[in-house]
Amino acid sequence: MDQNIVKLAPSILAADFARLGEQVAEAEQAGADRIHVDVMDGHFVPNISMGVPIVESLRRVTRLPLEIHLMISDPDFFLEQFTKAGSDAFLVHWEGNNNLHRTIQSIKSLGKHVGVVINPATPAAVLEEILPDVDQVLVMTVNPGFGHQPFLHTTLPKVRRVRQMIAQSKPGCDLEVDGGIDATTAPLVVAAGANVLVAGSSIFNHSAGVAAAMLQLQASLSHVVN
Ligand code: DX5
Ligand code: ZN
Repeated sequence: MDQNIVKLAPSILAADFARLGEQVAEAEQAGADRIHVDVMDGHFVPNISMGVPIVESLRRVTRLPLEIHLMISDPDFFLEQFTKAGSDAFLVHWEGNNNLHRTIQSIKSLGKHVGVVINPATPAAVLEEILPDVDQVLVMTVNPGFGHQPFLHTTLPKVRRVRQMIAQSKPGCDLEVDGGIDATTAPLVVAAGANVLVAGSSIFNHSAGVAAAMLQLQASLSHVVN
């Protein structure tokens, strides 16, 4: 993967919600490719985060694409509301969805980008039949539900495997990773084939600020060879 085309997707889960607009503007100015919005229902994952009103507010302050990572038990139920609020892309989990193909078709019929997400314990092989239908794959590099968790190194072979699958059957499909991405782990995932990096705490909780954090992440990729 050419490190020059690696895209950053700041996750606002780690942002200061009292200054959300400002922080997203900083990320946009610093070259973020998209804003990652983590939606949790306290059921699919053991945490509650944010919903439609946050997307409505964000839509008014940024032109960046808003990608919605749905960590909820019934994603189909909320697709229209999130679309009306201004969402551009949906990331839906393979886990717990008995009708993933239908969910993906519903997202496409709303004219939105769609990605499928797999958890750390889920093998890459489950993607085989669904890959032709999606615009991106998100490999979780932590268990979903919380920010600021340590990166799971055991997910790296899977990132490599998914990159091979994409090269074979869906060139152009984005390969995104989410969880524990910082200046130490970013080069590892990019070397393995990721081209979109979600980063929450390493961007929004950096002592030098959002722009410096994003520069540091990009700089960490300058010697990646793969
Ligand atoms: C975790 C979320 C992530 C989270 C990542 O369930 O999907 O997007 O915000 O946070 P960091 O980058 O702090 O690991
Ligand atoms: Zn996420």
